Amino acid sequence: MQKTVISELEQKQAALDLDHCMSVAVGAAIAAGNIVNACLQPGAMSAISDKTATDPVTEADKECERVVLSMLTRAFPACKVLGEEMSGGDGRLTDGATWVVDPIDGTANFVHCNPYCCISIGLVVRRESVLGVLYHPATKDMYTCIRGRGAFLNGNRLKVSSVDVIERALVVTEMGSQRSADWIHHKQCAMSALINLKPQAIRCFGAAALNLCQVAAGRAEAYFEHGPYAWDLAAASLLCSEAGAAVTDMRGGALDLCGRNVLAVVPQLQQQLLQALRDVPAPTS
Ligand code: IPD
Repeated sequence: MQKTVISELEQKQAALDLDHCMSVAVGAAIAAGNIVNACLQPGAMSAISDKTATDPVTEADKECERVVLSMLTRAFPACKVLGEEMSGGDGRLTDGATWVVDPIDGTANFVHCNPYCCISIGLVVRRESVLGVLYHPATKDMYTCIRGRGAFLNGNRLKVSSVDVIERALVVTEMGSQRSADWIHHKQCAMSALINLKPQAIRCFGAAALNLCQVAAGRAEAYFEHGPYAWDLAAASLLCSEAGAAVTDMRGGALDLCGRNVLAVVPQLQQQLLQALRDVPAPTS
């Protein structure tokens, strides 16, 4: 396969061989996945400390992030890194080539030994994703994508679902971790709009990045949420668009990885979802 090289990185960073990036990121995801799987064994959950009561973090999150970031920075010293646990939660991105890492997406599931959680590693250049690796340790499913080269699950090409009526669509959203009045109001309005649309199924599985993988793999027709950060979206939003989904913000505008809202949907249902969500007020805080 022809190698893809990004040669015009801002700040004169070294050109990146995306095939090499992929193999290092896959190795890092498996290393973190081994830590996650060990913790999911009975009685082995790692120590939990709460960022907030609804947003836990564990020693395993921090250890996974240390492992992933050290493998990435050793191999790519010129790249910046942004990890969920190191950032202090502001999710800022610059134009430079940046590895954006969620060491465990779905931490609230993880702390309950619920295996619906994943490791997400995205490479972002000029604030746009160019490569994504997502690893679901419980199933050993490895999702990979490089911009322009398609989306893959364990090496098999992914394509979004062909369901074209909302009555047969499975739509995923999340309640998130914010509990202030305007967020609660937003979530209630969003859920109400969704129920009124009468899809076949509505699901809240508990991990934004893995939800996007479901859309890419054709196991869900749409996922939307106000709440996810760049580390939830960097890898999996690219996976979705490479699998043929329409990926925008919840108003249909260009996805901003730091904009904290996303709609990924099969193209044939995009207008219906956008229409349904049009009057949902965005949270203000
Ligand atoms: C969160 C989870 C959750 C979603 C939030 C995410 P984390 O990520 O994916 O399901 O509702 O928007 O930030 O904190 O588990 O990495």
